[in-house]
Amino acid sequence: MDKINILLLGAGGREHALLLKLAESPRAGKLYVAPGNGGMLQLAQQAPVNQDSPTEVATWAAQNNIGLVVVGPEAPLVEGVADAVREAGIPCFGPNASAARMEGSKEFAKQVMARANVPTAAYKSFTDRKACEDYVRELAGPCVIKADGLAAGKGVIVAQTTEEALSGVAQCFEGAFGDAGNTVVVEEMLEGPECSLLALTDGKTVVPLATSQDHKRAYDGDKGPNTGGMGVYSPVPEHLVGAEDLACMTNIMERVVAQLAADGIVYSGCLYGGFMLTKDGPKVLEFNARFGDPETQVVLPRMHADLLEVFMACDAGTLDSTMVQWDDDYAVSVVLASAGYPGKYESGKRITGLEEAAAQDGITVYHAGTKLDDEGNTLTAGGRVLDVTAVAPTFSEARRNAYAACDLIDFEGKQFRTDIGARAL
Ligand code: AMP
Ligand code: GLY
Repeated sequence: MDKINILLLGAGGREHALLLKLAESPRAGKLYVAPGNGGMLQLAQQAPVNQDSPTEVATWAAQNNIGLVVVGPEAPLVEGVADAVREAGIPCFGPNASAARMEGSKEFAKQVMARANVPTAAYKSFTDRKACEDYVRELAGPCVIKADGLAAGKGVIVAQTTEEALSGVAQCFEGAFGDAGNTVVVEEMLEGPECSLLALTDGKTVVPLATSQDHKRAYDGDKGPNTGGMGVYSPVPEHLVGAEDLACMTNIMERVVAQLAADGIVYSGCLYGGFMLTKDGPKVLEFNARFGDPETQVVLPRMHADLLEVFMACDAGTLDSTMVQWDDDYAVSVVLASAGYPGKYESGKRITGLEEAAAQDGITVYHAGTKLDDEGNTLTAGGRVLDVTAVAPTFSEARRNAYAACDLIDFEGKQFRTDIGARAL
């Protein structure tokens, strides 16, 4: 069997989970990461390339006999890394830049949704600050202000009052989110529980993955600022997402991929749908052009699939729903973060208890913001440090085991939410 050497771009818990799953494939050859983290570098070699540079990535991959490039985060996709890799004749997992605009531009995503007749929040977009402020005053109530471009999970202000909305508009136009804020989208506020549905697609066939629910706020009880995600579980139980909602979300994903295809854009990779389950049914909050982080850390452990073959099929246009099966088990993942996250935090703290935690039944500790020192010790190197993930036959057991493993791990300033999955119980 011909082995396939893999280059995986990214450095988060999502990428550690992707790497571990890819490494299980019988066809996996040499594993390279750029830049990787403390956990990833224990099983892969670092490639000396800037993950956001299409030319650097494509050239290095061609020179080093890479048979598959897997792009974890959104920035390289929006920059056109997947285009450059494919142009070099190398299979790639992740959409080309034109398709990645589903995440890179909220305005573009809204236009695709309108053409595909997909339910989403009503919106208006503005490049003129005065017109935007006038519109917000006219609404005279709750609304959501969004910077149009990529803003690393920030750039969304959920405003209850006109005052909060105006301050959000000011932040956007005054450059708080960089160039992302040159165009500002004002949206109707939707209400209901949130649910993420990720789907793999080759541009024709759409294979939905298991449902999951992220916890975006920093503190217990959904208090505090928005973060990249503080914990997640999968699947989302029937009482929160019924069969009808699930069918509706799946249908929405299919319609979006078909609409893009009709527009001449092949979407190949993972499409992430963020939904609000309103009383009128699921409505789209946003699309992302990649796997979710931390959603991936609970979805992949429950998946029975040769991920390498699945990714090759997404690129080749030969994806088939029988390639992906699911476990009946439950997964809960708790993020251990540095004190101060999502604001300022310190790095370089020694982490203890990792091996003991990983030795527990059903536990995997995915590294996010970690690095190795010269002696091979693991140190903190980011806001979100580790994703402690438990898989078990019942939801309550998975939750209990995840928290027991969290207690075995220590580093100065360790902070985490104690209510991950509480809603599902
Ligand atoms: P986004 O990055 O667009 O998913 O927004 C981040 C978070 O802001 C979402 O997970 C929601 O909690 C909230 N949000 C975004 N859009 C809306 C909306 N139209 N109505 C209510 N909440 C929203
Ligand atoms: N967990 C949210 C995201 O990946 O966008």
